[in-house]
Amino acid sequence: MMLSGMALAYMYSLLLFFVQNLILVPSSRAKVPAIIVFGDSTVDTGNNNYIPTIAKCNFQPYGRDFPGGFPTGRFCNGRLPPDFLSEYFGLKPTIPAYLDPAYNISDFATGVCFASAATGYDNATADILEVIPLWKEVENFRDYKKRLSDYLGIEKANEILREAIYIVSIGTNDFIENYYPMQMRRSQFTVKEYQDFLIGIAENFFNQIYHLGARKISLTGLSPMGCLPSERTANFQDPFSCNEEYNNVALEFNRKMKNFVAKLNRELPGIRVVYSEIYDFILEIITKPSKFGFEVAEIGCCGTGTFEAGFLCHQDNPFTCTDADKSNFKPYGRDFPGGVPTGRFYNGRIFPDFLSESAGLKPTIPAYLDPMYNISDFSVGVCFASAAAGFDNCSVYLLVSA
Ligand SMILES: *[C@@H]1O[C@H](CO)[C@@H](O)[C@H](O)[C@H]1NC(C)=O
Ligand SMILES: *[C@@H]1O[C@H](CO)[C@@H](O)[C@H](O)[C@H]1NC(C)=O
Ligand SMILES: *[C@@H]1O[C@H](CO)[C@@H](O)[C@H](O)[C@H]1NC(C)=O
Ligand SMILES: *[C@@H]1O[C@H](CO)[C@@H](O)[C@H](O)[C@H]1NC(C)=O
Repeated sequence: MMLSGMALAYMYSLLLFFVQNLILVPSSRAKVPAIIVFGDSTVDTGNNNYIPTIAKCNFQPYGRDFPGGFPTGRFCNGRLPPDFLSEYFGLKPTIPAYLDPAYNISDFATGVCFASAATGYDNATADILEVIPLWKEVENFRDYKKRLSDYLGIEKANEILREAIYIVSIGTNDFIENYYPMQMRRSQFTVKEYQDFLIGIAENFFNQIYHLGARKISLTGLSPMGCLPSERTANFQDPFSCNEEYNNVALEFNRKMKNFVAKLNRELPGIRVVYSEIYDFILEIITKPSKFGFEVAEIGCCGTGTFEAGFLCHQDNPFTCTDADKSNFKPYGRDFPGGVPTGRFYNGRIFPDFLSESAGLKPTIPAYLDPMYNISDFSVGVCFASAAAGFDNCSVYLLVSA
């Protein structure tokens, strides 16, 4: 058994422990109308499938333990902690991605995910792999609020937003995808200054969702990010060991976040924010895997411990053409958000027909709808674009698996 899916399930229990503090009667399953999710791949249930980025997990073996066994867009073999929380509170067993056109506002009324894998607090982090920046997640939330008000009436919509539980999980990519591998922020900020810069953005974010109606919020602390599969794979000096510097930066950032959460609780009337500390627990699983029933801890599901190559169709094709052929492809000095172990996958067979308006992208590509192709075809290297004229500019990229 490989560490990841189960680790996430453990993480869920821990998250539940903190989230219980957000409701009045912690020991009961007090009525929670919806779970609303912001953040990165730790909680993205599939939004990246609908934007032109290579930060996608829409290929096998991701999703192999998901009901039905298909990759959903989650950076995970199964469901994510917010999915489990949703089920625990008697809501849907999975939380739909806001950009997934298979769902409508009546589905989203009981839970919605705005998260985007590979994003961060910093706009520049989202730019690296062209994913959804945090400010845009807030814009989508604003749009959601409007749709919900149109659908249920303002009063009911406001009640849902007020009583919903918000899960916020973000920050890792600002360090491992942006600050360390890229020159720009390092030339502007020391790592401590960068942490404070991120907290300034977080403060703005919390104020915005507060003014839109959010009151019960869990902010997840960073995990030991130096132990993420991508970072261990990239650790050429000490193969498969954790990067201690990154772990220390996560610890330091978490301390600041904890103070920041106390400040939010003091300053915003009626808000209740819990800081969900997961670092020590995750580190314990990583360092003592057998205690938790794991046999393999050095590489993540569904990674291989090597960087894997994938194909991305040209940018005017919104689909990623994944080539599951693993190549022992050396990183070209560009670090990928990889290992961040989560992100859901939507059925490869579902995400064809839509894309269109909701994501503001091109209309659907006929070849992709061709029933001759299924997920197992994609997994052996079929480029969606190759079937459709004009979409043949596929480039090789490093993919997120490690
Ligand atoms: C949402 O979709 C379901 C079917 O999936 C349909 O029954 C329902 O009427 C739709 N609701 C809205 C508000 O469009
Ligand atoms: C991020 O980008 C948005 C949209 O352009 C902008 O409003 C915001 O000020 C930017 N944030 C920072 C910290 O630069
Ligand atoms: C995909 O289609 C092939 C036949 O074309 C079939 O053998 C295979 O089982 C299918 N795989 C999935 C995952 O549906
Ligand atoms: C795509 O490939 C074609 C054929 O090689 C080329 O003419 C075109 O410039 C390419 N487009 C882009 C945007 O690179």
